[in-house]
Amino acid sequence: MEARDRHLTRPAASVRDVAIRAGVSVGTVSNVLNKPDIVTPTTRSRVLAAIQELGFVRNDAARHLRRGRGRTLGLVVLDVANPFFTDVAKGVEYTTGRAGLAVIFCNSDGDLAKENAYLDLLEEQRVRGVLITPIDDASERLQRLRDHGVCVVMLDRTSTNADACSVSVDDHLGGQLAIRHLIENGHRRIAFVGGSALQQVRDRHRGAQQALVDAGLEPRSLQRVDTPTLTVAAGRDAAARILGLPRQARATAVFCANDLLALGVLQGLTRQRVRVPDDIALVGYDDIDFAAAAAVPLTSVRQPRQRLGQTAATLLLEEADKPEEHQHQQVVFDPELVVRESSLHRLP
Ligand code: RIB
Repeated sequence: MEARDRHLTRPAASVRDVAIRAGVSVGTVSNVLNKPDIVTPTTRSRVLAAIQELGFVRNDAARHLRRGRGRTLGLVVLDVANPFFTDVAKGVEYTTGRAGLAVIFCNSDGDLAKENAYLDLLEEQRVRGVLITPIDDASERLQRLRDHGVCVVMLDRTSTNADACSVSVDDHLGGQLAIRHLIENGHRRIAFVGGSALQQVRDRHRGAQQALVDAGLEPRSLQRVDTPTLTVAAGRDAAARILGLPRQARATAVFCANDLLALGVLQGLTRQRVRVPDDIALVGYDDIDFAAAAAVPLTSVRQPRQRLGQTAATLLLEEADKPEEHQHQQVVFDPELVVRESSLHRLP
């Protein structure tokens, strides 16, 4: 009985099995797989026939593991439904595709358990490296990855660790640009829509308050409208809360932590026949393509999304392939205010 059980599930054929079946060396099988044009047609046919008979499948991952260089890298983002991240992914793919690598795209959905599960999976897959926009301060978890030989570059988050690369945008400046613009258009009752879970959003809020201070205004005058997510639906709910205030206390301008929120606020205000910008001015953040295409083209703080992705991927490949030459960098891009109709209304 024991003998029969032993063969119930035949182990996958190895390169050695193919060599024995074809009557050639392991090296010749490897040549047929990797450099077929240097093998004579007769030998090549014998080896291919043995591969067919044994059902041999090459194991790229195992091959690269022996070399310690996988041909994949992981990209972990917060919300795949947010065009900000698909634009960043485009930039990553532009760089990795040119290097012959594939990207394993992981969506944490803002869920810590999912983020950790993906990081475990990527480590098991022995990826070349991981690009991640972490949900919170994942420094300990990311350091463990690095200790296990997996390169990690933080994306859209500035690393406080000089021994790690990061690529981000100066979100504090981004918040200042948005509020400075609204103050210059005469607004004094301004609402900030966005949660406080993300470092990026907290920095935008602090920059917004700094702009009020710089203009001699009270930072606490910035009305906080906290949202559980940074989505269009959360923006619609925020619009209802803004309109729920008595008119004399109601904000005359709204700065949203990202464009999805701003598009939701625009929808919520419009449904209540509130005119943007004449009744309430509106500014978003990211400048995704939908911002310019909105029913009222949206003023937004532009992030260089594809450049963020390209730069992060370049740093990761440099660190993975030339560790002896690599110097860790914390690259920070400046955002840019793109003014459109949604905020173009000067208060008297
Ligand atoms: O994921 C939420 C936001 O954080 C995105 O819209 C982008 O602004 C990123 O920085």
